[in-house]
Amino acid sequence: MKATAAAHPNLAFVKYWGKVDPRLNLPTNPSISVNLDGATTVTTVAFSDERETDQVFINDQPASPPARQRVVRHLDRVRRLAGVEARALVASRNDFPADAGIASSASAFAALSLAASRAAGLELDERTLSILARKGSGSASRSIPGGFVEWQAGERDEDSYAYPIAPPEHWDIRVVTAIVDQQPKAVSSGQGHRAAPQSPFFNARLAALPQTLTTVRRALLDRDLSAFGLALEREAVSMHVVCMTSPHPERDWLSGIYYWGPGSMRLVHAVQAWRREGLEVYFTMDAGANVHLICRGGDQAELEGALCPLLLELEGWCLVSRPGRGAWLVGEGEAGAQS
Ligand code: PMV
Repeated sequence: MKATAAAHPNLAFVKYWGKVDPRLNLPTNPSISVNLDGATTVTTVAFSDERETDQVFINDQPASPPARQRVVRHLDRVRRLAGVEARALVASRNDFPADAGIASSASAFAALSLAASRAAGLELDERTLSILARKGSGSASRSIPGGFVEWQAGERDEDSYAYPIAPPEHWDIRVVTAIVDQQPKAVSSGQGHRAAPQSPFFNARLAALPQTLTTVRRALLDRDLSAFGLALEREAVSMHVVCMTSPHPERDWLSGIYYWGPGSMRLVHAVQAWRREGLEVYFTMDAGANVHLICRGGDQAELEGALCPLLLELEGWCLVSRPGRGAWLVGEGEAGAQS
């Protein structure tokens, strides 16, 4: 009744922003991402009939009440699937700091889904695991398969899941995450998803998405960095336009939700200058101020060299990732990647 699993977070090239069903985390639109091998969550789940309550530790500390409640709700889903009643001990560790600008909920719920389902005696296939992880955190559905991944929006619980569109070795790109703002974000992604449909640009973004998805998918499969990069920058900006024109959930004196900070804009302009000078690098941003830079593997050293003075000035740092594998079992009975 015990299993350990690991998963990487993922970075969306085409973003998930808005939910048609917040309870099931059914997204308004499909999304495309890559797993980031520079960061990992490892989670152990042990069910025991002797245990009276679920106990949850995150990075060796008891989880906060809201975090614990979210984990317990996910354990309940697994218990219902497996028909078990036992309570669990959950211990989860991230090898990256919470302020790294990388959403740990994706790797956390992917690793938890695999560890808890195995510990409860289930052997779920990749699709079912992706559906389960999605209910913990939408983007976690994309950390189950390996490499480059698409999450089809679906209309019902059973057809909203992620699947691989290319393995990690398909394309030797680097994601250099520039951490230029270590403050916790002011508005959670959950609140942002809820506010999004109130932006007058939400429907315009949705109307453009089928074309964006086709362009990004095609460029990714063709390893065409120029077409890929320009499309993903426009896509990230379109998500942030929606954010900036969505009502802030708590601060009615603000016209919208601003995830970008001064460091974000410095990097956006730096990326454009580097490109003009011949270093092919593109940016994307999630619901936070930190900036993910994408370049060819062979350009990593040049990019780090260009980035270093700016990071020193902004008192930031960076984390480098290659395309990573899907969620996997660790230790005893290791079965390798699920994909
Ligand atoms: O899975 P959530 O609720 O944390 O939403 C993720 C939202 C973005 O990171 C901004 C976009 C994405 O597709 O990952």
